[in-house]
Amino acid sequence: MKDTRKIKWGIIGLGTIAHQFAKDLMLVEEAELVAVASRNLDKATAFAKNYDCKKAYDSYDAIINDAEVDILYIATPHNSHAALSIKALQNKKHVLCEKPIALNHDDALQMIQASKANNQFFMEAFWTRFNPSFREAFSKIKNGEIGEIKYINADFAFYADNLEGIGNRKTDMNLGGGSLLDIGVYPLFLCYVVLGIPSEILAKSNFHKTGADLQTSMILQYDNAQAILHSSFVSTSNIKATINGSKGRINLNTLWHEAQSYTLTVNDYEEEFPLPTKGKGFTYEIEECHQCIKENRIESEFWSHQNSLDLIKIVDKVRNQIGLVYPS
Ligand SMILES: NC(=O)c1ccc[n+]([C@@H]2O[C@H](COP(=O)([O-])OP(=O)(O)OC[C@H]3O[C@@H](n4cnc5c(N)ncnc54)[C@H](OP(=O)(O)O)[C@@H]3O)[C@@H](O)[C@H]2O)c1
Repeated sequence: MKDTRKIKWGIIGLGTIAHQFAKDLMLVEEAELVAVASRNLDKATAFAKNYDCKKAYDSYDAIINDAEVDILYIATPHNSHAALSIKALQNKKHVLCEKPIALNHDDALQMIQASKANNQFFMEAFWTRFNPSFREAFSKIKNGEIGEIKYINADFAFYADNLEGIGNRKTDMNLGGGSLLDIGVYPLFLCYVVLGIPSEILAKSNFHKTGADLQTSMILQYDNAQAILHSSFVSTSNIKATINGSKGRINLNTLWHEAQSYTLTVNDYEEEFPLPTKGKGFTYEIEECHQCIKENRIESEFWSHQNSLDLIKIVDKVRNQIGLVYPS
């Protein structure tokens, strides 16, 4: 018999993505938002009212200690992902933590050790892995429909009109600022899922005066393939990804990380496959969390602990190449 019990969610950090996530949470029948936490009570109360949630806290510790919460969604700046996730896991909460998992591989490893030691589900919120267009395109790639993969080209860039000021998540080094950790992780994710761990990485950046990378270009070298990737806060881009094989290619169409369709081209015949998402598309990672929790699994087979560790190790290598060092 299907387990239809509700999974009770809490959200930590009520910024931009928390709003988008909460909207999608309301579309998932088995999800119930029971508590939210901000550093500011008025903000938490307004957020809770907006999304039909009964409890609003003005402290992150309070929500971590709330016995009713099954799983916490951590939607704070990158620098706090590790500490908050570890605290929540130690307090016997399951955790869905926003990307990037942490500032570096060492911190990520501690998060995963906390998940294992406390037997609680943990996943980095890499929602693209669960996107229907991505999943169908990836299964066609694996089935060899475009032949052997030889070249990936993917970017993620937008013009950010306000990059100044302490506390700006995009450029404040104390918050893990920079385009690489914020959006460069998406093209790196794509290459990692399709081609695995690269043998070599070349990367160059232009920097903000704070030291955060404003734009980063990367070449990933594999034994039999290459990738050219880009992330930026200082220009727009197509935000398109193309995976090119010996027999054809697949475009994950704009905005590719939340694709609503993909295009398959084989022998000059092009076909578009529309796969609109339910809500913005966070619904699929939410459903995956529910499935894992109900089956007493501490990780997803689609975006596993090892997947997150591999990806952040690749990010660390790019950081070393461009000379990006965070104060912490
Ligand atoms: N999956 C996606 O598509 C996606 C998209 C955007 C962002 N993200 C990720 O989600 C995380 C949050 O991004 P966002 O765009 O939602 O950021 P944001 O709008 O700046 O919100 C972050 C929230 O974190 C809390 N916070 C805690 N300590 C803070 C500090 N020292 N400075 C500023 N805020 C602090 C604040 O909530 P309170 O004031 O309520 O405490 C703030 O509203 C990032 O790690 C980012 O990579 C994911």
